[in-house]
Amino acid sequence: MEQTAIKQLLEQMSVQEKVAQLSQLTPQFLGREQGVITGPLADFPDGETYLNGLGSVLGTTDREEVIAIQKEHLAHDRLKIPLIFMQDVIHGYRTIFPIPLGLGSTFDPELVEILAHAAGAEAAQAGINVTFSPMADLVRDARWGRVMESTGEDSYLNSVLAAAMVRGYQGAPADLATDFSRIAACVKHFVGYGAAEAGRDYDTVDLSRLALAQDYLPAFAAAIDAGAKLVMPAFTLFEGVPAAANHFLIQQVLREQLHFDGTVISDWGALRELVSHGVAADLTKASEKAFNAGVDMDMMSGAYLTGLTTLIKNGQIAESLVDQAVLRILTLKNDLGLFEHPYRQVATALVAPESAPTQATRALAYQAAVASTVLLKNEQILPLSEKCRLAVTGPFADTGALLGSWHCQGRYEDTVTVLTGLQQQFEQVTVLPAPVSADPADYNEVDAILVTLGERENATGEASSQADLSLPPDQIALVKALKQTGKPIIAVIFSGRPLVLTAILPEVTALFYAWYPGTEGGTALAALLRGQALPQGRLAMTLPRATGQTPLYYNKLRVGRPANQANTIKYSSRFMDVANGGLFDFGFGLGYSPVSYTAPHFTQAQATMTMPAQITTTVTNTGDYPTIETVQCYLSLTNTEVVRPQRQLCHWQKVTLAPGASTTVKFDLTAADLAYVHSDLQRRTDEGPFQVYVGPNSQTELSAQGTFNASTSPK
Ligand code: BGC
Repeated sequence: MEQTAIKQLLEQMSVQEKVAQLSQLTPQFLGREQGVITGPLADFPDGETYLNGLGSVLGTTDREEVIAIQKEHLAHDRLKIPLIFMQDVIHGYRTIFPIPLGLGSTFDPELVEILAHAAGAEAAQAGINVTFSPMADLVRDARWGRVMESTGEDSYLNSVLAAAMVRGYQGAPADLATDFSRIAACVKHFVGYGAAEAGRDYDTVDLSRLALAQDYLPAFAAAIDAGAKLVMPAFTLFEGVPAAANHFLIQQVLREQLHFDGTVISDWGALRELVSHGVAADLTKASEKAFNAGVDMDMMSGAYLTGLTTLIKNGQIAESLVDQAVLRILTLKNDLGLFEHPYRQVATALVAPESAPTQATRALAYQAAVASTVLLKNEQILPLSEKCRLAVTGPFADTGALLGSWHCQGRYEDTVTVLTGLQQQFEQVTVLPAPVSADPADYNEVDAILVTLGERENATGEASSQADLSLPPDQIALVKALKQTGKPIIAVIFSGRPLVLTAILPEVTALFYAWYPGTEGGTALAALLRGQALPQGRLAMTLPRATGQTPLYYNKLRVGRPANQANTIKYSSRFMDVANGGLFDFGFGLGYSPVSYTAPHFTQAQATMTMPAQITTTVTNTGDYPTIETVQCYLSLTNTEVVRPQRQLCHWQKVTLAPGASTTVKFDLTAADLAYVHSDLQRRTDEGPFQVYVGPNSQTELSAQGTFNASTSPK
């Protein structure tokens, strides 16, 4: 539809129709069975009158439901404006890929883009037009349950992967209207939700504008630059004002600074929560505040439906502003081709979502599960031979519950369990009966024990904060009992967050962190154990030594009294009882072969505004297996105007190395890489030297010094 036709449509809309267009409800408000409920269901006033002209529905569960709802809607809607259907497609629709924190650990934007497309395609076939993804929140506190929805603790990694997800969902700009495997992306939660106090969900956030600009905004900026069509403000505060009513955040930062011109949709019930926050006396005031701040669409508060019409009629809200919000939503519908194809999913000849997972999506899920799994320890036991007589135990030994929170329409019965995976790779696999015996005599027929550990799927995700990140005591006891058998123990952790593994680390011979790997979790783990697949994941979030270290992240600001590695300096920034730093730090991960690095050196040590500095290192596979190494490049700035992190990731490259093979990896450090946010909130580069670290993870000590010698700021 031409833009002029959309404007004509807008002109025909009554005030009530405009208000309804700005509202989103679950199917139950359309007289259907309850849809997917992801928040508290407050009492809504009688639904009937609201349904005319409703803008959007969230939480449908299948294609038939979407078709039926759309059909009924169009039959009654005076102006025949189609509904737009939204859903949380976070890491797959029916075929489930690893949780986003696992995807972060792949360090692989190309793969992440392909996965987002595959997830979007399944969702699109089920009638979904928009996904509430990517979650671009920076996460540093593993107590927060929603760390599983993020790609981790580094804002640069998050930026690259958030942009990849947007491209994967949406394709090129013109694709949305014509390619029915595409859906629109809603980046969330704008902004700072990850900084909730003590990791308690929905809790207070207090961030400086400097931290906002430097750490929290970049991934949103990247998603918006990649074309994300929608943005969802967070539940939390910025400078004392909830994001859903925060004029500064939405108008000044999002619209002016980040140039976002798409739709702003509230989070579930967030307008209603303005009343709980005590910044609005009632729903009408809440709708006034949220609308004036810039929220276009009200998800599941019913606040606009309750208050907006009166506010417009009383002149408290300008109808011209309402028109702009409606126009943004109509434009989104038009971008998706919904006026011409309100049943996009029916017109497509693609595979029906019911037949998923298909062979092709399973292959992707396998690839992703392999790439996201991090090998943390391997005392020369892995890979195993197919003849290895394996015993398996622990709470995840034979369950399909390997999908993780927000697994959309994923089903346990479609999931390859660890046991099934092992049976495909090993000649002899036994499941240890519970309680396990600690008597070595019972293990004469066993060569190694695989113990599956971790937390339940619903222990992470929304509203799943944890005050204690230790493994449950019964799991620690299980490992200790197994240790008495004298057999090598290989542990695999399934978790949506970094857990404290301090108690079991010394007991195990090998250790994998599999996050929640998804539909092909069992296949991937077994292939990794056998060496049919290469371990290559790198931690996207630091694993703490103790819960009390949280928030914990590698790129901490420099302090005046740094601790030493041995943790022996009295007047230093440290804990008395635990060393600083993680048990395993950001970027850490092993392959099956050791890799050596030469000291990095600059082939071009001086960067200018237009010319990058160039640093190289040579990496060599010194072992007997092929390996995939993620060569990481970190920047460290001193003599700065504001305090900077000890180091920050600025580039990485994944390289595959045959046994004995070497390759030289080169990184360009541009003025944009060297720029940082100054106290005037402007991002620019300082003159002078800088340090670059290149190595296998964030703790590498291999470094070299370059200089920057232009004083004007980059665009
Ligand atoms: C969550 C959002 C989600 C929305 C819709 C909310 O509770 O915070 O991330 O997109 O529900 O399900």
